[in-house]
Amino acid sequence: KKIELDHADTEKGVYAHYMLKEINEQPAVVRRILTNYYDTETSRIPKSLISAIQQSDRIYILAAGTSMHAGLIGKNLFEKITNIPTEVHIASEFAYQRPLLSKSPFFILVSQSGETADLRACLVELKTSNYQILTITNVPSSTLAREATFALEIHAGPEIAVASTKAYIAQIAILALLANSITESSIDMKKELSIVANAIENFLANESILTHVRNKLTKPNCFYIGRGLDYYTGLEASLKLKEISYIQTEGFAAGELKHGTIALIEEGTPVIALISDPKINHNTRSNLNEVSARGANTLHIVTSNCEEPEDEIILDTVHPLLTPMIMVVPTQLISYYAALERSHDIDKPRNLAKSVTVE
Ligand code: AGP
Repeated sequence: KKIELDHADTEKGVYAHYMLKEINEQPAVVRRILTNYYDTETSRIPKSLISAIQQSDRIYILAAGTSMHAGLIGKNLFEKITNIPTEVHIASEFAYQRPLLSKSPFFILVSQSGETADLRACLVELKTSNYQILTITNVPSSTLAREATFALEIHAGPEIAVASTKAYIAQIAILALLANSITESSIDMKKELSIVANAIENFLANESILTHVRNKLTKPNCFYIGRGLDYYTGLEASLKLKEISYIQTEGFAAGELKHGTIALIEEGTPVIALISDPKINHNTRSNLNEVSARGANTLHIVTSNCEEPEDEIILDTVHPLLTPMIMVVPTQLISYYAALERSHDIDKPRNLAKSVTVE
């Protein structure tokens, strides 16, 4: 069935929905971040923030939903680039089940709106102990930005759709350039992020995702599987698909399926594999064979350095620490078109609010 895009609303420009507009804004968002953080003196990362992180012995990233998934990518960036052990916590858990903290912790709150109540509960708690706190947010005038020790803006521009897309990419970009500013790392982050922006643009210009999604999501459930960073991308991809198509979706560690969950795989169960790391390419492919043997209806999203003939969606290869920024884009569109085919309210899905200001 041909998808007729709704009559474009002037506010959304040529796009039928804010979500589609915001997905397509992602290359420009990354480039705007590079301009703001590298090409102008004014909003470089403050030296006081850099030294506060350098003096810490462990970083705690606190967030909710999509921002927590960006935090998971941030953990990998900080540990690989700065060698500072980094933990990620769901804000609503941390607020009431605080883990044992290190001697000199540094806290990073990640929040598009800067108003998420679960995070504000954490902030109140942390401030009683005078901890140093950075808020990474899209709203510099927000509560979480104002009440933290430091704040960094993600420059994503207003994100109207409830399902977060460009803010996720922007949060990862900020975490990457922040980590890179802590140590004299050999990574030219400006160049690597600009390669990511081009890769996203290239995919958006050339990939008609519909041909791959059609007839895939025919069951009430779906799995995204991956290993390492692709597992984290699977968590974000599954949240996106759940929150606007209402398909019960799980992001699952590919190697863990055989420890029980594979019992759910039956004839036609959609399983979307995410593969962007050549070192574990074949491990994930053997997990794919396990589910195909049980009747799964699979779709492969891979980067070109992992490509094999049967793969359907191929993405440009980018720096290994930044692959989640390109791998997530097809999954955002899969969610969008799945919701469109179900005639759901894409920008305002049922039961959801853009900013969850209640605990
Ligand atoms: C993401 O698509 C959701 N809308 C939701 O999970 C969101 O990421 C979460 O509520 C956190 O919001 P925040 O980034 O404004 O704190």
